[in-house]
Amino acid sequence: GWANVPMGPPDPIFGISETFKKDSFPKKINLGVGAYRDDTGKPYVLPSVRTAEAEILKQDLDKEYLPMTGDNSFCEEATRMAYGDVYDSISNRLVAAQSVSGTGALLLSSRFFSKFYPSKDIYISNPTWGNHKNVFSNAGLNIKEYRYYNPITKGLDIEGMLSDLSQAPNSSIVLLHACAHNPTGVDPTHAQWNDILRVVRDKGHFVLLDMAYQGFASGDFARDTYATQLFASNNVPMFLCQSFAKNMGLYGERVGCFSSLTASPEEAARFESQLKILVRASYSNPPVHGARIARFILKNNDLRAQWAGEVKGMASRIISMRQALRSILENDLKSKHGWKHITDQIGMFCYTGLTPEQVATLSRDYHIYLTKNGRISIAGINTSNVRYLAEAIHTVTSN
Ligand code: LMR
Repeated sequence: GWANVPMGPPDPIFGISETFKKDSFPKKINLGVGAYRDDTGKPYVLPSVRTAEAEILKQDLDKEYLPMTGDNSFCEEATRMAYGDVYDSISNRLVAAQSVSGTGALLLSSRFFSKFYPSKDIYISNPTWGNHKNVFSNAGLNIKEYRYYNPITKGLDIEGMLSDLSQAPNSSIVLLHACAHNPTGVDPTHAQWNDILRVVRDKGHFVLLDMAYQGFASGDFARDTYATQLFASNNVPMFLCQSFAKNMGLYGERVGCFSSLTASPEEAARFESQLKILVRASYSNPPVHGARIARFILKNNDLRAQWAGEVKGMASRIISMRQALRSILENDLKSKHGWKHITDQIGMFCYTGLTPEQVATLSRDYHIYLTKNGRISIAGINTSNVRYLAEAIHTVTSN
């Protein structure tokens, strides 16, 4: 039996959604999970996705198994989008597999490292997305941290980051967020990315790029590929983990892509053979429906342009909510706390600087839910709840 199984803690992000659901207070707000909501607080299925689904339904497709590496045509479009102009020069040594969204791509990475990569040390940013630690420690890797966020400036600690990456043993694994860093909303500038590249190359580090928010950093898919293109064009050995959960709103469909930039077509063939073995033993082959939707949109020029506009729309609504929240706090409520970082930070999140105690008060007294680290998902804010939120934040930060 399971007499020895201890009770585990709730997930820091999904646990909040569970608590939120049970709360019957009408003005409750969920700023926990990074999932887009429209201005009425409802989940948003992109019109481009609705159109693709309707067209796919008309095709009367079968439900046959996909290959172990998934829908190849989807993978090709997905990686082309992420590697941009560099794609054509690397495609013959790029191995890609459809993954069970971003987490599934990270899982494949973690298993590959533990099976084949000499170093078992993975360097993650402090802080990072809570699930990174789970995924990589589950695969037996040693979690190490590099400095990333400076709580005083509420920006990037680039000196600390570069120094920690230089002091890491050669050939360590370094996990970087390609754009729209989660949870801080703080990305390196292009010049800072170039400095990171220099250290990574000097040290022979292996780069794992997690790209869950392409389109959300700048509102433009191509502009968000700076890091991906930089590492790939400099032939840094790397994995890329892409998710279409946020930018296509395909959360529960679990659509993602894992890709590995290898040294040669011959190495790519060996890599792919092992990737298939790994997939076969893990889940056999990935699900069809979500990848069909993504492929349909990616391969249809009109729909793809429409989709780009919809992502821009989501990104713009988030920016306007950042502005509204900051403006109410500073101009209406005269908060002296300093809220410039709300509009400086980018992507779906703001790393507010609220303490765990303030976070607890917000949920207990105001029914406003966010992760303990003070991260808020801006996507949960709308024109109807922003004032209530600002007043609550002002109250808990005034004492
Ligand atoms: C988040 O950070 O809230 C999202 O990436 C959702 C998740 O899977 O945790």
